[in-house]
Amino acid sequence: MSDQQNEAECNALSRSEPSLPANWYYDPLHYAQEVKSIWQRTWLYVCHTDALAEPLTYRTLEIGDQSVVVLRSAEGELRAFHNSCRHRGSILCTERQGRLKSKLIVCPYHQWSYAVSDGHLARTSSFKEPEGFDKADYPLFPVAVTEWRGCIMINLDPAARWDMQQVFSYSPENLANYPLEDMVVGHTWRKVMNCNWKTFWENFNECLHCPNIHPELGKLVPLYTRRIMEPKDQPDWPQHQGSDDPKFRGGLAKGVETWSMDGSAQNHVIESLNDEDLSRGYSYGVSMPSVFIGAYADHVRIVRLLPIGPEQTELVAEWLFEKDTLNAADYDMSNVVDFAKLVMGQDSAASELNQRGMHAAPFKQGVLMPEEYEIKDMHDWIRAHLA
Ligand code: FES
Ligand SMILES: [Fe+2]
Repeated sequence: MSDQQNEAECNALSRSEPSLPANWYYDPLHYAQEVKSIWQRTWLYVCHTDALAEPLTYRTLEIGDQSVVVLRSAEGELRAFHNSCRHRGSILCTERQGRLKSKLIVCPYHQWSYAVSDGHLARTSSFKEPEGFDKADYPLFPVAVTEWRGCIMINLDPAARWDMQQVFSYSPENLANYPLEDMVVGHTWRKVMNCNWKTFWENFNECLHCPNIHPELGKLVPLYTRRIMEPKDQPDWPQHQGSDDPKFRGGLAKGVETWSMDGSAQNHVIESLNDEDLSRGYSYGVSMPSVFIGAYADHVRIVRLLPIGPEQTELVAEWLFEKDTLNAADYDMSNVVDFAKLVMGQDSAASELNQRGMHAAPFKQGVLMPEEYEIKDMHDWIRAHLA
């Protein structure tokens, strides 16, 4: 293979690329623009279907200044509405999550009541409804909602169409053998990070930081100690082609089965996985800007991101297991939960340092190195949405 071919197939950036302008990471006006053009125009992850399985349970989400309520109807259907009353506009559901007492959403202000099933206004609280007023004119404003493989997704864009190709990237086909829709949520963790949402995603999209920030992860995934995410991220990749060493081919270190504190899957490997899935060691699905899925031999982790402000981002992680695994006396989920919290804590601390440093008055813009090709793609995606 010629050097030119090597270079063509290598993932790395060959020329220096500027990062995004520094003020895009903290300027409130720019933040508002991103919320409008990106967060309120794309499919966003709400939670796993198991977390909203019971009839009449709900979740609320704040997407910038837009509050949305996502519910499971008494009949088991998913519904999503703007969390706003048609009378004079009060918020309807005030908790992050909860369960309605009846099939009606009742406004906490003057008790107008709406049917969960379709959002129609079922009753007002007035003694007599005035002339010229028709309840049919005041249903809740609907929000697009769909479910993909157990992932509940919403979109605030009234013209939104679900297009799988546009939504999940990063090899979602590798998730095919995971029983995603039948798994159950064993643990949930919420963390508020003091960084812009892009700062966190940039960190997710490179492994230059891995040896320094994630020493424990490097022991499980030796490739990461080479500061890369994929075997073809370095120009010398052809020299290692066919190597069985996980340091070059990727996958897990010898004897490691899953991402856990001790590397063991505790004899609870997901049965539907084949040899290829297990030898890959980890599989990802990403849907910008709100979610990534990490799938391992014995569990799946889904991480949702939502911006709270220009310099605050909420992370909610869900750990999914097969029911039998979660109920097994010989399976201790803290083995995988603690490990992921360790890694996510390290990423979050690095992102917060990154965020603070970008405020230096002379720092107008960073620069991307060859290994940061995924960040370049992410920046292009952001620029396209803002255009
Ligand atoms: S604002 Fe909801 S009933 Fe008045
Ligand atoms: Fe990391």
